[in-house]
Amino acid sequence: MTTTETPLQPVHRLDYTPPDYAIHTVELTFHLGEDATEVEAVLAMERTPTADGAPPLRLHGQTLELLEVAIDDAPLAADAYAVDAEGLTIHEVPAVFSLTTRVRIKPQENLSLSGLYRTSGNFCTQCEAHGFRRITYFLDRPDVMATYRTTIVADASRYPVMLSNGNKVAEGTSEDGKTWVTWEDPFPKPSYLFALVAGDLRCHAGRFTTKSGREVALEIWVEPQNLDRCDYALQSLIRSMRWDEETYGLEHDLDVYMIVAVNDFNMGAMENKGLNVFNSKYVLARPDTATDQDYEGIEGVIGHEYFHNWTGNRVTCRDWFQLTLKEGLTVYRDQRFTADMTSAAVKRIKDVQGLRVRQFLEDAGPMAHPVRPESYVSMDNFYTATVYQKGAEVVRMYETLLGRAGFRKGMDLYFERHDGQAVTCDDFRAAMADANKVDLEQFGRWYQTPGTPTVKVEEAWDPAGGRYTLTLTQALSPRAKDVPQDQRELHIPVAVGLLGADGSSLPLQIEGEQQPRSGTGTAVLELREQTQSWTFVGLDQRPVASVLRGFSAPVKLEFARDRGQLAFLMGHDTDSFSRWDAGQTLARTLLLENAAQGQERLDPTFVEAWGRILADPELDGSLKALALALPSEVELAQHMQVIDVDALHAARQAAKRQLAEAHRATLQATYDRLNDGAPYQNDATSIANRRLKNACLSYLSTLQDPAIVEQVYAQFGRADNMTDAQTALMLLCSLDVPQHARPRVLLHPLEGRPLVLDKWFSLQALSTLPGTADAVATLCEHGSTRSRATACAALLGTFAAGNLVQVPRQGRQRLPPARGQGARGRPHMNPQVASRLARAFSSTQLRSAPGAAARAARADRGPTG
Ligand code: BES
Ligand code: ZN
Repeated sequence: MTTTETPLQPVHRLDYTPPDYAIHTVELTFHLGEDATEVEAVLAMERTPTADGAPPLRLHGQTLELLEVAIDDAPLAADAYAVDAEGLTIHEVPAVFSLTTRVRIKPQENLSLSGLYRTSGNFCTQCEAHGFRRITYFLDRPDVMATYRTTIVADASRYPVMLSNGNKVAEGTSEDGKTWVTWEDPFPKPSYLFALVAGDLRCHAGRFTTKSGREVALEIWVEPQNLDRCDYALQSLIRSMRWDEETYGLEHDLDVYMIVAVNDFNMGAMENKGLNVFNSKYVLARPDTATDQDYEGIEGVIGHEYFHNWTGNRVTCRDWFQLTLKEGLTVYRDQRFTADMTSAAVKRIKDVQGLRVRQFLEDAGPMAHPVRPESYVSMDNFYTATVYQKGAEVVRMYETLLGRAGFRKGMDLYFERHDGQAVTCDDFRAAMADANKVDLEQFGRWYQTPGTPTVKVEEAWDPAGGRYTLTLTQALSPRAKDVPQDQRELHIPVAVGLLGADGSSLPLQIEGEQQPRSGTGTAVLELREQTQSWTFVGLDQRPVASVLRGFSAPVKLEFARDRGQLAFLMGHDTDSFSRWDAGQTLARTLLLENAAQGQERLDPTFVEAWGRILADPELDGSLKALALALPSEVELAQHMQVIDVDALHAARQAAKRQLAEAHRATLQATYDRLNDGAPYQNDATSIANRRLKNACLSYLSTLQDPAIVEQVYAQFGRADNMTDAQTALMLLCSLDVPQHARPRVLLHPLEGRPLVLDKWFSLQALSTLPGTADAVATLCEHGSTRSRATACAALLGTFAAGNLVQVPRQGRQRLPPARGQGARGRPHMNPQVASRLARAFSSTQLRSAPGAAARAARADRGPTG
């Protein structure tokens, strides 16, 4: 067991220094072998103007066996350099020189999914963040940008397809019968964007003509048996390309754009220049294997990686502390893309839901960090919800403050200034400020403040003067205790609207303004001080305020409202997000109250308001399904001081049952109407119908009525699409139906369809029935056609993040082995995956109070345990 590596020293953001040497061009030759691979690198290097004297050359390198090193073609004497576990030092180098190295690596033994590794018999690379140093000696840092020319030599019978970044410029056969291919990438890039793939792959091809007339070949490379499941990914790519041209004027810059789907991949996908590598679950889809959510996921991830070509690749990060510069911005772009392709309101609600469940939790715990962290020990731990999702919210706030057109101007200036450079979050902010001639100095504090701030709302109504005053007060979270006194006020955009008694938008005229604002009925208040007030004048009735519309800032809102107001907004707010949020707030209040008091009865006004939404003919099905859903247990738990998981689960289940009892007829009628047996389609209306239909079925299934259980079985049996099948299966997994019935469904032949098998796994991991933790452990040992490490990680992740009811009981003992261990019978765990899982489990730990967990454990063992 390897336990001791060099003790890891934290790296600090403010310690950044520019590199002493630049690398202008890189020529790589790979000899891919069955036992080992040899990599030759020729680097054109030059000392930089900022270097102090003639410093030694220190190159990163890990797990490399050095065979040869030469400067300007002269091999180095043994005392001219030194090799250690982290790299290669050459004591003296000229100001301008060519460095040649030859190393041997063992991709066959590389189980870390970083560097060059094997998956399903193919070769594949993953270099972000620090994988390139496992391929060759290099300045493996994003501010060293070079052009690459890559030659791959291999046995063509095993590896008929050999890919790398850029355009293919030459190919041939060598004397020993091997095939070689040369690729050239004309755009300077950091090493983390390098990629190589070789294997027996097939191509689903398409093409795209850019707005300036460039013909781009689109190629999706997959294992032969998957060729019939690529078209949705291809069409998504085409939509992404068109969207980026239309929205930001950004075109693709190479003659070919390739995507490779692999089974073993630790993340969703990777944006390597011109050669994206994807986890196959974000490429492959067919109605019988993919749910509506899977399709949406594919389109979102395809878009995300494509959008990186400009936000990440052409303009990259100076150092890894700037990760949110590319990830926050690109998540923001993919969110907007999905919003434009589907329903903007539904997308916004889901994104905020995700932010609140995952990022707020991170922000409240010991892992809390600013979107731009100050230090790290291992970069693997910093691919977080904060860097990604909160980072996207920070970008969204620029757009809220500057408007669509202003934001676009800022983006244009950013590319104009920084194309081909490695830059910082401050450079991005400066482009936004300068393009719009505004001061965004204070806004910069968002990048350095950890924790979720709160905004408190107070209101005052002056009936005689027709004046309504909103007073907003901001406060940082306790996690921001180290932020200096003079930097504790953030610049927060708070979008508000005022509603009249009939639900109409009231005119917005702020005291001091000459006339009411024209337009949308929403005003953006810019909160910059600790406390500020705004008075709306000229009102003929007391308004109901809708505050933080569209979730205009990543804050917690404290607004003491009565239930009547919440129910009113739930029924009438013109902002779809706020309408949904009011309903959720009301439901949460009621459920928490019931859980605390061990009570089951639900407030009749809520039951009634809920029924009105169910019956509302105007509401789109997707939006309706979201509005009808009760806040999840994980979400509710965040609002409890001491978390009593059982009480929470009981209160929520009881609430669902009461809603179902009260509205059974409408639920059944809606279900029957939408369950029309029409063949599967995946347009927006069909998706909305399925969502609503399945929401109805979920409520009905709480009634424990044998007739309804039969309906659920029937849906599973008849489904011609994965969405309907999976919903039915999920409901059955948590239904305590007679034992003989469950295996009938669960033994459904899913073997040999790894992505489907994963679904079956995660459904079981989410079951609230007792014994789930044991089932998860057993499933982890289960053989599967794809690597056990991948399947097991998916399973544990789902369990840890989603199963509030069963994790506190016994789940934590099942923590995966730490980095690199690979204990007997356990899969080796990639460091990023291990980090992600450890975080998921530790947040569950946080959520459960010792008393409640102990009580739950006792309950599980029963009276004699
Ligand atoms: N650059 C990342 C992927 C990555 C990061 C791979 C670090 C390996 C190490 C990529 O652009 C990304 O962010 N992918 C996301 C999906 C995306 C839709 C948010 C992922 O893989 O989860
Ligand atoms: Zn990304």
